[in-house]
Amino acid sequence: MQADGQRPVGASEPRAYRSAEWFAREGKYGFIPRSWMKSQGFSPELLDGRPVIGICNTWSELTNCNRHLRELAEHVKRGVLMAGGFPLEFPVTSLGEPLMRPTTMMFRNLAAMDVEETIRANPIDGVVLLAGCDKTTPAVLMGAASCDVPSILVSGGPMLNGRFRGRTLGSGTDMFKLDEEYRTGKISKAELDAAEAAMSRSAGSCMTMGTASTMASLGEALGIGLPMNGSIPAADSRRAVLAEESGKRIVELVRQNITISQILTRPAFENAVRVNGAIGGSTNAVVHLLALAGRLGVDFKLEDWDRLGRDVPTIVDLKPSVRFLMEEFFDAGGLPVVMQRIGHLLNLDAPAVEGGTIGARIASAKCWDDEVIRPLDRPLTGQGGIMVLKGNLAPDGAIIKPSAASPRLMQHRGRAMVFENAEDMRARIDDPALDVDADTVLVLKNAGPRGYPGMPEVGTMSLPKKLLERGVTDMVRISDARMSGTAFGTVILHVAPESAVGGPLALVRSGDFITIDAAGRRLEVEVSDEELARRRAEFVPPPPAYERGYGRLYIDHVQQADKGVDFDFLVGGSGTPPSKVSF
Ligand code: FES
Repeated sequence: MQADGQRPVGASEPRAYRSAEWFAREGKYGFIPRSWMKSQGFSPELLDGRPVIGICNTWSELTNCNRHLRELAEHVKRGVLMAGGFPLEFPVTSLGEPLMRPTTMMFRNLAAMDVEETIRANPIDGVVLLAGCDKTTPAVLMGAASCDVPSILVSGGPMLNGRFRGRTLGSGTDMFKLDEEYRTGKISKAELDAAEAAMSRSAGSCMTMGTASTMASLGEALGIGLPMNGSIPAADSRRAVLAEESGKRIVELVRQNITISQILTRPAFENAVRVNGAIGGSTNAVVHLLALAGRLGVDFKLEDWDRLGRDVPTIVDLKPSVRFLMEEFFDAGGLPVVMQRIGHLLNLDAPAVEGGTIGARIASAKCWDDEVIRPLDRPLTGQGGIMVLKGNLAPDGAIIKPSAASPRLMQHRGRAMVFENAEDMRARIDDPALDVDADTVLVLKNAGPRGYPGMPEVGTMSLPKKLLERGVTDMVRISDARMSGTAFGTVILHVAPESAVGGPLALVRSGDFITIDAAGRRLEVEVSDEELARRRAEFVPPPPAYERGYGRLYIDHVQQADKGVDFDFLVGGSGTPPSKVSF
């Protein structure tokens, strides 16, 4: 029985909420948490046994994309209070793409641990997860998943479109283009500086279909975020309304004891893979969803990305694939329209966090712009999604995003130009003497989970300046790294096992021929087994980049890309068992 004596709505048996272990106790064990909470000015009414809702906030001034999340939290709180809950906001580790070194990916698991342990250690019955910048979304979902509490995702929303001298600038995507224009003398330094200020002009995450927009959209597709969570701009008042609605809804989820594992089921993951293909989503979603499924014990593998996603047409015309940005996507009707158009590929009976099913959510969706969200008979590509390549160069798999690649390079044979690490690549890529032509396959080693460490987004590799000047716009690139969700090109990523642990990538040498057969899903280096064995015997792993601290923990426990780059000891969940009282 909960402390106010009422039966929770939808629960089959009366039950006390988890927070009652703290606030409903007799004597000093209840006195302490109640008394000290009252120091914040909370009235006894708030501690009367109502659901306590944690608002898990990744706000930080070091994460510009999430800088408005404290304001958004106030709207969540209002919704929680309206529904009869008690909201308590708490900060967790934030991860800002533009600033963190060596890469935010190295800290995704740390942030997830912070989320998990903060929820478990405190009187929290349900949690609203406020996230925005790329890694913050998977981190909060992974942490909540390992606790298996009622949860709802509220994304910060995308920035307003960049505008510069009559040109629309998309986060990241146009930065890569501007950089190449500057490096080849097409624009001046002053113009580049002015464009810098014009690209990011409001609160919110990158407004291309990069990793942040992809993960926010996939949160919506998974059913753990409300409809339109992925696309309402950060600066739009309707984002605040969604936050308020989420605050109301989480209270009901707690009352009905609907936990995150009841939403994030295998059918939900299948939907997310297909939606990722339809929106032309980021390759980073691959590792994040694999890691999230691992926390939940959902049987979901790297191969599912290819099997489920291979025939999904990309129907959302957003940069980096082609033209528009998130503002136009929102105006066109957003993700419900996309899901309605590929409804025949989805599990429509998958649950949605607002109650009911995904099918019910999208039934009345209406498209307002067929150029932004195209009809199925006019896709950008019939083969959206992610391809998984295997072969003697990637026994455990590698991925490529066909919609970002050049079709002519999807079947290709070329000589390798090998860079031993990212520093080697930066030092030599613009060397006029570099022995490369348009058919060369650029290979980057030691940029994987352990090798860098943290698997940074360096897989795109700038093209050699001398080839850019000759008008070459794309080349095949292969690495154990990731790439930015806003990047494009024929880029093969996430090669597993990575080179630093002695994967075959470590054995490739400049001059070896490499074959990419995307149609056959093959990635091969034309070197005999005997020669590869000889090279393997000579392989010396690079020294670890960290001897102590979190970096050392990371190197010792991070898994390979085909496993989602989670720590081996974090796979699965521990729920929220009754805790010991230490005072
Ligand atoms: Fe934060 Fe792109 S840098 S979302």
